[in-house]
Amino acid sequence: MRKKETITSLQAAKGSRKLVMITAYDALFASLFSESADMILVGDSLNMSFLGEPDTLSATLDQMIYHTRAVCNGAPESFVICDMPFGSVNTHHDALANAVEVFRRTRADAIKIEGGKERAPLIKHLTQNAIAVMGHVGLTPQSVRSEGGYKVKGRSKEDFDRVVEDALSIEAAGAFALVVEGVTPELGRAVTEAVSIPVIGIGAGSETDGQVLVWSDMLGLFEAFKPKFVKEYLQGAALVKEAVKNYAQEVQEGKFPTEEHTYQ
Ligand code: KIV
Repeated sequence: MRKKETITSLQAAKGSRKLVMITAYDALFASLFSESADMILVGDSLNMSFLGEPDTLSATLDQMIYHTRAVCNGAPESFVICDMPFGSVNTHHDALANAVEVFRRTRADAIKIEGGKERAPLIKHLTQNAIAVMGHVGLTPQSVRSEGGYKVKGRSKEDFDRVVEDALSIEAAGAFALVVEGVTPELGRAVTEAVSIPVIGIGAGSETDGQVLVWSDMLGLFEAFKPKFVKEYLQGAALVKEAVKNYAQEVQEGKFPTEEHTYQ
């Protein structure tokens, strides 16, 4: 069994080993991922791949707590991060109350908050109250409706400078690490070089301190759409469909169960 990561060990990794983060939404898959991943993120992406909603915006705090609890149960030796859903951290008061609720009802190690410089005072308030916070800059999926789509960041100088400034502000507010999503590889590198905390990339090139992928994407299970940055390490959907087809066929033909799967 691997040793559980801590904020100290994760921060010490910067510049010496690449960090691996993966999402999980339940105990079963979390237990399978815990051996190889340094961190498990209970992402609000679960609203899409688990609940079938078109975006992450309707995820609720109760939903996030339910899934985070399951992940902590399945992977007690993993460093687990709970994504704060849209609307749950709009004021200092709500953010602290909701973060405390996450820690009361789960064994999560940290929370993640989307947003740039404008979130820095709020993140400072949380970190000063003993809440470990991971930031999330660049493309922030919770802004999909206000921005009118998922827009890659860093193609204009204005964008580029703003995301670097966002990262610096979040670091100064006390975040222990950052996700940078949907940016050009140059911007991924610039953010990683600008801050001294670990930067975990998703669609941000290869020069960040680590990578994160959504589990159902990397296992090839989510068929609704496939972002460019996703690498499928398993043809999951095809394998699952084939297995269920075989099961259905054997039931229909009376070939399952045999004596081997029958009580004597
Ligand atoms: O919700 C999620 O899964 C995330 C990752 C894509 C970083 O925020």
